[in-house]
Amino acid sequence: MTTLTINGTARTSASPSSTKLLDVLRDEFRLTGTRFGCGEEQCGACLVLVDGVPVQSCGREIGALAGRAVTTVEGLQAHPIIAALLAEQAGQCGYCLSGMVVAAAALLARNTSPTRGEIATALDAQLCRCGAHPRILRAVERAAVERAAVERAAGELRP
Ligand code: FES
Ligand code: FES
Repeated sequence: MTTLTINGTARTSASPSSTKLLDVLRDEFRLTGTRFGCGEEQCGACLVLVDGVPVQSCGREIGALAGRAVTTVEGLQAHPIIAALLAEQAGQCGYCLSGMVVAAAALLARNTSPTRGEIATALDAQLCRCGAHPRILRAVERAAVERAAVERAAGELRP
């Protein structure tokens, strides 16, 4: 048994401790937004945040994650990157997008106005077989601008 926090809620996994986090998320907790791509830590489709740090869930055993906080794409549905990806029509088949969302959210948490080069570097390990990278990069730029605007507006409303 392993207890950890997933998207803000305490969950206990009954899977053997050597089970990969990706399999626990998808098969035990039915959080199927996190995708299986290569299973070899090479494509980024399975990216999640562990204590805010992006990790490839296909390479992490559940037993090593007791007490940690995992955020999946399901926990990022209110993040501006989601609307920005839609606005830029960035997805083609969409298979890579949950990993892209997680990578972009991690970038924007540490860098609120990244350059195009910084975005490309942050997403470099995320493979997109459809070649949609240009639109995805534009979506991350858009999300940064829109997030800054929301924060500016919130600041103006504060007493
Ligand atoms: S499925 Fe984990 S990196 Fe490809
Ligand atoms: S949109 Fe198809 S793999 Fe990226």
